[in-house]
Amino acid sequence: MSVYDPKAVVRDGYDAVSYRYRGDQEDDTCRVYIEWLAELESRIPDGSSVLDLGCGCGVPVSQRLAMRHRVTGVDISPVQIERARGNVPSAEFQCADMTQVDFEAESFHAIVAFYSIIHVPVEEQFALLEKVESWLKPDGCLMATLGMRDETVEMEDWLGGGAKMYWSEADETTYLQWLARLGLEVVFKRFVPEGDTGHTLVLARK
Ligand SMILES: C[S@@+](CC[C@H](N)C(=O)[O-])C[C@H]1O[C@@H](n2cnc3c(N)ncnc32)[C@H](O)[C@@H]1O
Repeated sequence: MSVYDPKAVVRDGYDAVSYRYRGDQEDDTCRVYIEWLAELESRIPDGSSVLDLGCGCGVPVSQRLAMRHRVTGVDISPVQIERARGNVPSAEFQCADMTQVDFEAESFHAIVAFYSIIHVPVEEQFALLEKVESWLKPDGCLMATLGMRDETVEMEDWLGGGAKMYWSEADETTYLQWLARLGLEVVFKRFVPEGDTGHTLVLARK
């Protein structure tokens, strides 16, 4: 009997839809990230160490950050990581489950996680955020798109590429409670609409 493995679904799904999700060149879908990164980068010095969790193919986030900072990217999908290495040669990339990687305490001035923590089973997300908090330097920033409503969703054919996909979210209040428990102060939170729902963009400081 095979056991359902949501992380394998996500890994294989992004391997399959990597190019459908984003090309190697920036396009209109990248504009919003550029605004977000400007807000983050105004709070960290040049040459900062930045971790991009669920970095995808590296475009645009790792690539933009690597223009001024030392970037480490982590992604569970081998195809995404291979592309990221090609797109952002100056950054370091690890192909790994972000809940399984480890870094020394206080390694990073900033950690970004755009649309990626929401692919981790929700019961693992608080422990992941605990690690994230420990990896941040004092005053370090976390910028992440988190969930809005308590739901776990599976899709059979995402982006028309025949790929299965899996998402898992807590509601916004729970995420804010978790950040408060970890001593991460929310600098701002913003609703980012998508279809009939959306995500919460959070910038939090240790
Ligand atoms: C929606 S894409 C976002 C990519 C990029 N952050 C962006 O916003 O352009 C989500 C990425 O998170 C990665 N991901 C999902 N679950 C992960 C996990 N447990 N560990 C590492 N990466 C993961 C996926 O492989 C995928 O590349």
